[in-house]
Amino acid sequence: MPDSLEHKRDLLRQFRKRSEEGGGPDRVAKQHAEGKYTARERIDRLVDPGSFLEFDKFVVHNCRYFGMDKKQFMGDGVVTGIAAINGQKVAVYSQDFTVLGGSLGGAHAQKIVKVMEFAAKTRIPMIGINDSGGARIQEGVVSLGAYAEIFRRNVDCSGIIPQISLIMGPCAGGAVYSPAMTDFIFMVDRTSYMFVTGPDVIKAVTHEEITKEELGGAGPHSAKSGVAHFKCTDEDECFERVRELLTYIPAACDAPPTRLATTDPVDRENVRLREIVPANPKKPYDIKEIILDVLDDAHFLEVQKDYAKNIVCGFGSIGGIKVGVVANQPMVLAGVLDTDSSAKAARFVRFCDAFGIPIFTLVDVPGFMPGVGQEHGGIIRQGAKLLYAYCEARVPMVTLITRKAYGGAYDVMASKHIGGDVNLAYPTAEIAVMGVEGAVSIIFRGELSGLNGDAFAAKKQELVDGYEQEFSNPYKAAELGYLDEVIMPEETRSRVYRYFEALTNKHQSRPHRFHGNIPL
Ligand code: HXC
Repeated sequence: MPDSLEHKRDLLRQFRKRSEEGGGPDRVAKQHAEGKYTARERIDRLVDPGSFLEFDKFVVHNCRYFGMDKKQFMGDGVVTGIAAINGQKVAVYSQDFTVLGGSLGGAHAQKIVKVMEFAAKTRIPMIGINDSGGARIQEGVVSLGAYAEIFRRNVDCSGIIPQISLIMGPCAGGAVYSPAMTDFIFMVDRTSYMFVTGPDVIKAVTHEEITKEELGGAGPHSAKSGVAHFKCTDEDECFERVRELLTYIPAACDAPPTRLATTDPVDRENVRLREIVPANPKKPYDIKEIILDVLDDAHFLEVQKDYAKNIVCGFGSIGGIKVGVVANQPMVLAGVLDTDSSAKAARFVRFCDAFGIPIFTLVDVPGFMPGVGQEHGGIIRQGAKLLYAYCEARVPMVTLITRKAYGGAYDVMASKHIGGDVNLAYPTAEIAVMGVEGAVSIIFRGELSGLNGDAFAAKKQELVDGYEQEFSNPYKAAELGYLDEVIMPEETRSRVYRYFEALTNKHQSRPHRFHGNIPL
């Protein structure tokens, strides 16, 4: 009975089923054989059970070239909709490689644009799962225009809602630029890759030979290019990390801050930190030990863990207050600021500031990295990014100098002068224009010249001791009010918590302007 109610209901069941089949069992089997879940399986694993509401399940393309009229699939190779993660609403799209290689044409892109616009107007995070052969070749320029529509939405959403990209298969050519404009990129080891031009084109143009994995896998993008923020061993780990990240970041720039539940006492003494900073200023130590001991339950989600390791960035909470942490790492290149670490931290600071996440900065920095490579690599431009990002930040900022804070790097690392709300130091802090050796040899050159052997050594030691007494401590800065308090290491957690708590209602508005001009 074609017009009976049951027939109409049955038709909807059939359509739903057909849409859910994607490219069919053979292609699904191929996807599984490659160690990859399907688009729908990925959404199921990522979001809270039963929370997914799908949009545009029956959308098809209208391309008639190259036999495409016979290759129509309901949903057109991308699954879109809204769901919840940890009970928080999110929007999601997931490209279906089993349908025309997940390639992106006009209809496919329209679905993505629609869900992005939904996310922007309802102020919820946007998560994109990418697994695609790129622009759908048969649709020609329509595909190029379609990508550009997505790029523009990425920029429209930037700083309004968090945007998260999961790369779970190919992502090549101009297609990389949508993830590149989102806030966080997750890559899965060995099954995902990103590059603008692939190995074949590179071989033809520059005669370099390289595999896809070596060129654009999760390994090089997390350690060398800094494109990927998280490298995951498999897709399940990736979903777990995304869920974890979402516990630290708000749904939108104007969402009221929420706190995390913790049983870790805010007045817990950091007994382990009493002797963490070595007496010898040349001896390294692991800044992550301080971070872990201060944060709630020693829980720290590090961002870009394998890239520019001389600076550490990530999320945690203190007494439930969610914070972004930026810290020089004395274990790597003595914690120096160089081109990569400056750009890495600048982007992180800007993310925190855009989304109202307070910033806890730990400083142990000998300065900017010297070298021809650094100068010609743009240390002026890159260092300026970090300086700009901190100067611009309006979120609560608590800064702790654990040891060295030398030269321009002292200013840059959230000093009082550029907007630190509360600036603290350990008794081991040394705030100076430069390290003692360099300083003494410059300012006392006359007194040292002409001396040799023991006389030289004795005089130099006397000058070094004098300089250290005068400058290699936190008290000059404290006298001037550049530091609010000098604290004992064991007091760190309770002090930092109390200051962030005091800063909860910080409000500092920005003067109207179209936008600043960060040195890019
Ligand atoms: C149309 C595509 C496609 C594409 C894959 N398919 N990519 N269809 N447009 N871009 C189809 C294949 O024809 C095939 O369909 C199915 O998807 C699966 O592809 P396979 O090649 O069988 O899969 P696999 O061996 O795993 O190889 C995956 C791949 C390869 C490496 C991604 O498909 C590939 O190289 N595709 C082309 C990539 C590319 O050059 N894209 C354009 C990039 S430029 P059938 O029906 O035969 O099974 C670009 C510009 C964006 O994206 C610009 C934005 C500004």
